Amino acid sequence: MTQRKILVTSALPYANGSIHLGHLVEYIQTDIWVRFQKMRGNSVHYVCADDTHGTPVMLRAQTEGITPEQLIERVWHEHYNDFSAFHVEFDHYGSTNSAETREYAEDIYRKLRSAGLIEVRSIEQYYDPVKNMFLPDRFIKGECPKCHAKDQYGDNCEVCGAAYAPTELIAPYSAVSGAKPEMRHSDHYFFKLSDKRCQEFLRKWTRSGTLQTEAANKMQEWLGSEGENRLSDWDISRDAPYFGFEIPDAPGKYFYVWLDAPVGYMGSFRKLCNSRNEDQGSKIDFDEYWKPGSTTELYHFIGKDILYFHALFWPAMLEHSDFRTPTGLFAHGFLTVNGEKMSKSRGTFITARSYVEHVKNTEYLRYYYAAKINGTMEDIDLNLEDFVAKVNSDLIGKYINIASRTAGFISKKFGGRLAKELKDATSLISEFSSRRTQIAQCYEERDYGRALREIMRLADIANEYVNEKAPWVLTKQDGQEALLHEACTVSINLFRLLTLYLKPVLPMLAREVETFLNIRPLTWDDAEEALLDSTINPYQHLMTRLDPKLIEAMVAANRESLKPETHSPARHAEHQQHAIAPIAETISIEDFAKIDLRIARIVNAEHVEGAEKLLKLTLDIGEEKPRTVFAGIKSAYDPDTLKGRMTAMVANLAPRKMKFGLSEGMVLAASDERGGPCILSPDEGARPGMRIK
Ligand code: MSP
Ligand code: ZN
Repeated sequence: MTQRKILVTSALPYANGSIHLGHLVEYIQTDIWVRFQKMRGNSVHYVCADDTHGTPVMLRAQTEGITPEQLIERVWHEHYNDFSAFHVEFDHYGSTNSAETREYAEDIYRKLRSAGLIEVRSIEQYYDPVKNMFLPDRFIKGECPKCHAKDQYGDNCEVCGAAYAPTELIAPYSAVSGAKPEMRHSDHYFFKLSDKRCQEFLRKWTRSGTLQTEAANKMQEWLGSEGENRLSDWDISRDAPYFGFEIPDAPGKYFYVWLDAPVGYMGSFRKLCNSRNEDQGSKIDFDEYWKPGSTTELYHFIGKDILYFHALFWPAMLEHSDFRTPTGLFAHGFLTVNGEKMSKSRGTFITARSYVEHVKNTEYLRYYYAAKINGTMEDIDLNLEDFVAKVNSDLIGKYINIASRTAGFISKKFGGRLAKELKDATSLISEFSSRRTQIAQCYEERDYGRALREIMRLADIANEYVNEKAPWVLTKQDGQEALLHEACTVSINLFRLLTLYLKPVLPMLAREVETFLNIRPLTWDDAEEALLDSTINPYQHLMTRLDPKLIEAMVAANRESLKPETHSPARHAEHQQHAIAPIAETISIEDFAKIDLRIARIVNAEHVEGAEKLLKLTLDIGEEKPRTVFAGIKSAYDPDTLKGRMTAMVANLAPRKMKFGLSEGMVLAASDERGGPCILSPDEGARPGMRIK
């Protein structure tokens, strides 16, 4: 097999917050893939870095009374330690605030400028006259122009969900100083994504098989059909004061953090090359990985929220500045905990640090995440009860159990020596061995869930074998030494193969098993051979059961019961550029008035036999008889939790005959690819039958 040369990245975490269990979905996922590729004998470099620039970092440093450099230095260590604790093993972990990243950012910018893809335009933006700075949308607050809720952010209302421009806010104020912002003009630099060359290139790139189907579909949506020009130019500059890189030949203008963030992949890799070039023999050639026509592979693991940046801006930047574009983007979904968004009030916004403090063993989580990861953009759920049950049943009950029930006999009865040859059961070892190609395929495709299901199926077979041979019985019988020796040798071999297959997920445990078995670090090819006639060490306990009390304590420690849910503005301030579905055609107030919306009380909610998506709701809107409405919200709601709730319905929709009965209206619910359906709730004071207008 020829050795592949692969460069892998995970998204660069922001330097203004802690690593939490959501982030870890990505870093653990990437690390498993990298470890797997390394076990296969491929040459893999895995780089990452802290994403350090932007307004939130600047302001946080000010609040703490330190420089941004001091802040990012401290956070770098925190992040690095957190990743290490979860055995995420980077070949280099850098920072975007580096000479290398600056150099590539400037180089790319200059090339885009020479290609005529940079344009300067004057824009109007809110300015904080007290802080003397332009305000990113998320740092402006005010009254929602739609629902008049107070203290809403400049880009969208968290009460009614409306999206708007900050200029539409009523009575806006600066979230930094509280001052009334002023409108000011400023020159901004734009990357002309609307240029025909970018559009054409992106269309071609989308179709080239680099993207998962779901991501390619998103791209189609963003790009529109042939000839259409849906992409707008991208504002890549920010005015001083800003923590970032100054734009060449543009004093007082800085690269917007998202311009230099992905360039951080290159900067971090450059640092790796520099460090390797010093010790001879392991040289890495930067250009071999980044120049057009490269035969090396480049993959970015990212969350679905940052697909826009990686699938549009990033390849367009690279393509037009004489660099190669990625071989693939591997986008994943978001973490939910117990079926819901991570929440501080529920104690499910769990930091990496607090997991380590309470649970300690981080391979439990690696295993659980791996079992849920399937290579798609679907969200994955950490169900804490299931987590405990699964870890204990799979890892302790199935996998470890094989060694703990058989290894002792090898030590006690055979001086630690495995049998020389096997008469009977070689077929079971070769059956396990023969699964190596299929399991490798699952890892390759990032369908770790499938790999683990197959591995646990094998563990079940191994346990049946142990039960059937019952070494604890054989050991008491005379003249059964050979049988006992064989049974235990086979079991240890099955255990060894399971360890090999689990090694990308459980690297520390695998290392301990290697020590126990007295063997060199397992590689994928080792699955072809059996371990015979060699000495193993006495078995020592490899893993303990996960105690649910540890999880309870962790959740309790993360619960901020008295504080209201705090939304970190940081994540949104500068980076949230969600592509929402296009707004529908304008209608008149008369058009709207035709829809009779009413407050409804959900008197009853129940499952409908045979219906995949529907719940049957009984709605009271103050009429004599309640209405029956079938709503496609089964995926998101347990009927019992709906009973008694207030919501909104369309009351004058023509009744519709459905397979399951007559539906006399419609409840309103929100959804897009980020989630949903979410039904609406009115504020206090709303009564059944009230009209909504
Ligand atoms: N700094 C940017 C990425 C720049 S890449 C050139 C960023 N940082 S982040 O800290 O917010 O997120 C880092 C990665 O973690 C992203 O890929 C993001 O999607 C992922 N996750 C953050 N929260 C997550 C969940 N709750 N669940 C799954 N992944 C999540 O975005
Ligand atoms: Zn609102």
